[in-house]
Amino acid sequence: MDFFEVATTMPTVRRFSDRPIEQAVLEKIFETANMAPSGSNAQPWEFVIVRDGAARREIQRLYELAWVPYKDTAIIRGRTTLSARAEKALRLGDEFAASLSIVPVHVVIFLDRPKMRVVRGSAEDLTNFGATYGSIFPAIELMMLAARALGIGTAMTTMLSPHEAETKALLGVPDIYQLIALVPMGYPAEGFKRPFRKPVWPRLHDGHWDRAWPRSDKR
Ligand SMILES: Cc1cc2nc3c(=O)[nH]c(=O)nc-3n(C[C@H](O)[C@H](O)[C@H](O)COP(=O)(O)O)c2cc1C
Repeated sequence: MDFFEVATTMPTVRRFSDRPIEQAVLEKIFETANMAPSGSNAQPWEFVIVRDGAARREIQRLYELAWVPYKDTAIIRGRTTLSARAEKALRLGDEFAASLSIVPVHVVIFLDRPKMRVVRGSAEDLTNFGATYGSIFPAIELMMLAARALGIGTAMTTMLSPHEAETKALLGVPDIYQLIALVPMGYPAEGFKRPFRKPVWPRLHDGHWDRAWPRSDKR
């Protein structure tokens, strides 16, 4: 697939079919993710690829535990009415949380903290967060792009973070690793559409914050 087609038709997929993903396809996805850049080339990523049904059901339980309060506080934030778009997002979020365990592959991504040589929660960690998290999200994004190129949908989620300890216990992950994301992965129930984004033009500055980018028509 053409790169621009892949990159512009990779929405968050929240409705999946239960069709399994072939092992060779998974391996291609992770070999591609592994090519991501990272600070000092530390390559601090570990992927736990969960295919077992009971483990996926437990991950769903933990996700739902976090989703319910998130929905009530972070999204609704005391509003009495919601826009149609927000209502739809909440419905889809509910449906996604309730059906997570049918997604055939749950990828749980961990950051190898010792490789980053910064103690978690330290002052240096707070000022260095760009280098730390910037050393793992490119690999996650590359994994998602590779999956999309192979017809497989993904959803980046960080909802498991409040349940890091339970997730690590479930998956046997040693304490030095930090839970970063859960990316459910599978063939989409409804195909891929171009996701909505605001136009980029107001966010392009021509060498100085106050100078708008002189948009051309030649692309
Ligand atoms: C860091 C990060 C964390 C996210 N966490 C969640 C999550 O926990 N649950 C979820 O359903 N979507 C999650 N998302 C997906 C976003 O809601 C999604 O990227 C955004 O709404 C744009 O969706 P679209 O690409 O389908 O338009 C997350 C995305 C990012 C980048």
